[in-house]
Amino acid sequence: MSESNGTLSIGEASIELPRLEATVGQPALDISRLRADSGHITFDPGFANTAGTRSAMTYIDGASGELRHRGYAIEDLAVHCNFLEVAYLLMYGKLPNQAELAVWEHDISTHTMLNEEMRSFFDAFPRRAHPMAVLSSATNAISTFYDVYRRPTRSIEIDAGARTLIAKLPTIAAWAYKKSIGEPYIYPDNRLSYVENFLHMMFARPVEDVVIDPAVVKALNVLLILHADHGQNCSTATVRSVGSSRANMFTSVAAGMGALWGPLHGGANQSVIEMLQEIHDDPDATIQSTIARAKDPDDDFRLMGFGHRVYSNYDPRARILSSFAEDILDRMSTTDPLLEIARELEAAALADDYFASRKLYPNVDFYSGTIFRALGFPLRMFTVLFAIGRSPGWIGNWMEMNTDPETKIIRPRQLYVGEPARDFVPLENR
Ligand code: ACO
Repeated sequence: MSESNGTLSIGEASIELPRLEATVGQPALDISRLRADSGHITFDPGFANTAGTRSAMTYIDGASGELRHRGYAIEDLAVHCNFLEVAYLLMYGKLPNQAELAVWEHDISTHTMLNEEMRSFFDAFPRRAHPMAVLSSATNAISTFYDVYRRPTRSIEIDAGARTLIAKLPTIAAWAYKKSIGEPYIYPDNRLSYVENFLHMMFARPVEDVVIDPAVVKALNVLLILHADHGQNCSTATVRSVGSSRANMFTSVAAGMGALWGPLHGGANQSVIEMLQEIHDDPDATIQSTIARAKDPDDDFRLMGFGHRVYSNYDPRARILSSFAEDILDRMSTTDPLLEIARELEAAALADDYFASRKLYPNVDFYSGTIFRALGFPLRMFTVLFAIGRSPGWIGNWMEMNTDPETKIIRPRQLYVGEPARDFVPLENR
């Protein structure tokens, strides 16, 4: 037996669990033979201790609060790259050189239009439809226009599908927004960069163009980069789960969007602002009463934007956003009372033993909303912005899974706690 392997004793039996090395970070014990060799399964709610895959995309050190994509620190990527560069890095494993980036940006900018028949799709939604529901449905729907992407087999088709999806998401997102406010859809303008184009489709009107502020473009690039990938989070795990049945990339990503929407995941960015707004508006909701509610075991309220499955330290994305929020508000020559409340709430939580003992710190969603507000985005679009940002992570994971010889359909076991076998009772005797 190798010294580095694990050994599990079950009664008299001793089972060797091979140790799998990571390039950086925690090694794993391979339990793939455990059931066959011991007749036991493992119990791990939320898969908090389980690696379902190997991945070379993103490394997180939750204890020290580090995040790297393909080896590059998030702090460097946020300062030096635009969003499409990071998307290329995540999906293809290397930073593009100038020629590769030019081709990549050109390919994206020339695939931004939606099939004209998609207009009626947006029209069919009620005005009050949440844009996350529209985004997810439309992402699935666009696959129906491209037979080749439904079951792509060659890598050239998968690359084209990925490019199409990244290119069209801002158009879908902006049209979902236009639908919600009853304004005409604005077509993409392929002379603009990715982020400029999104801002154009969001805020221009047929009667007046929009002046695009380079500071807003820079800020939105940073925000999208900070959301670009994050290991096997709930939505990415969903994309992989759906994709493991060989469902196409569009359908898998649409499912991931559903997972992202929940308030414990990406939907938290909307919930944070709603929480801060309540403290601002409701005289009975103070910083202390909010902290008290979050600590109360009989109240299912949680301090939104706080806590993380992987980080037991400050989320590095939140650290960047915390100082960035101030910068943006200064550059926009505006103030936001909700940012002040967020700062007070953070200070009160960090000083409180409940949060300290559980190692609960602000996560990416705690400050992103105040910046999205300052940039002019409406509340219901916040999680949509997260989704556009996360798209390279979802697609990159789908692509990685698609070429991984270890990929198996995702199908966990369960610990059955229901009735044992019982005799059937005919209807008339029940
Ligand atoms: N407010 C109050 N208590 C919290 C919070 C919070 N935000 N987060 C965790 N806790 C408490 C739990 O009640 C639990 O306490 P206990 O040990 O007394 O039972 C303990 O901390 C551990 O929490 P878990 O729920 O077991 O941690 P888990 O890893 O399963 O959950 C999660 C992580 C979902 C992010 C959680 O911290 C949370 O609900 N946060 C608020 C929602 C949020 O901000 N989500 C965005 C996450 S980042 C992202 O997805 C992009």
